[in-house]
Amino acid sequence: MSDKKIALITGANKGLGQEIARQLARQGHLVIMSSRRESGSDSADKLATEGLNVVHLLLDVNNRDDILSAKDWIEEEFNRLDILVNNAGVLMDRDATLSELPESDLRMTLETNTISPLLLTQHLAPLMMKNRYGRIVNISSTMGSLNDMAASPPSSALTAPAYRLSKAALNAVTILQAKELCGYNILVNAVCPGWVRTDMGGLNAPLSVEQGAKTPVWLATLPEGGPTGKFFRNMKEIPW
Ligand SMILES: NC(=O)c1ccc[n+]([C@@H]2O[C@H](COP(=O)([O-])OP(=O)(O)OC[C@H]3O[C@@H](n4cnc5c(N)ncnc54)[C@H](OP(=O)(O)O)[C@@H]3O)[C@@H](O)[C@H]2O)c1
Repeated sequence: MSDKKIALITGANKGLGQEIARQLARQGHLVIMSSRRESGSDSADKLATEGLNVVHLLLDVNNRDDILSAKDWIEEEFNRLDILVNNAGVLMDRDATLSELPESDLRMTLETNTISPLLLTQHLAPLMMKNRYGRIVNISSTMGSLNDMAASPPSSALTAPAYRLSKAALNAVTILQAKELCGYNILVNAVCPGWVRTDMGGLNAPLSVEQGAKTPVWLATLPEGGPTGKFFRNMKEIPW
C-alpha cells in the first residue's frame, strides 16, 4: 500500500478540525474535510489553494443518512479509509451546573460528542478492517477526565456538566473500540488538544490551533505497534 493515506476529519470547516486537516495534508495524505454545512467547502478550497490535496464532504455527524452516504461515497471513491478524526463537537452548557442543565442541551451534547463519533466509527471501521490498517482519533478533553473531576474540591459545582459527561463517555467509547479493533491493526486513542484559541476555546486560550493540532496529528499517524486505547495530552499519556 502507498504511504499516502485517506483521512476523514469531522467538523473540518474551522478551528482544530481545519488545522488537523492542514497538517495531515501537508504530510502528503489525501484529506476529506467534512462539514455539516455546504459553506464548509470554502475551508477546503482555502487549503486547496495552499496546494494541499483535500476534498470537501457534507457530513452532519448527527444525521444518519449523512453517515451512510459518507460511507458509500468513501467506499466508491477510495475503497478504503485509513484515518478518522472524530473532531466535531459542541459545548452548549459552558456556565451551567448539573442542577440547572437544560435537558435539550444534555441530549444534543451527548448526541454530537459521544453517540455520533461512536456511530460514525461503527460504519467506517469496516473500510479500515479490510486493509488491516486504521488510526482513529477521538478528540476529547480533560474536562471529561474522571480523575480531574473527582479531584476537584468537595463543594465545587463543576460547570459544563453535559460537555464533561459527553467527553467522559467518549473516553469509554475509545477504550471499547480500541479493544474491539486491535486485531486489525487499528489504533484508537482519545486526546485532549489543550485549551486552544478557537470559537469554542475563546480568545484567552493559551494555545494556537497549530499547537493544539499537534498531538491529534501524531496519533492519526502512529506507526505500527503504537499505543491504543489511551488518553493523551501534549504527546504524553494522561489518566482517564
Ligand atoms: N478549543 C479547545 O480549547 C478545546 C479543548 C478541548 C477539546 N476540544 C475539542 O476539540 C474539538 C474541536 O473544537 P474547536 O475548539 O475546534 O471548536 P469549534 O471551532 O467550535 O469547532 C467545532 C466544529 O464542530 C463542528 N460541529 C458541531 N456539530 C456538528 C455536527 N452535528 N456535524 C458536523 N460538525 C459539527 C462545527 O461545525 P459548525 O461550524 O457548522 O458549527 C465546527 O466545525 C471539539 O470536539 C472540542 O470539544 C477543544
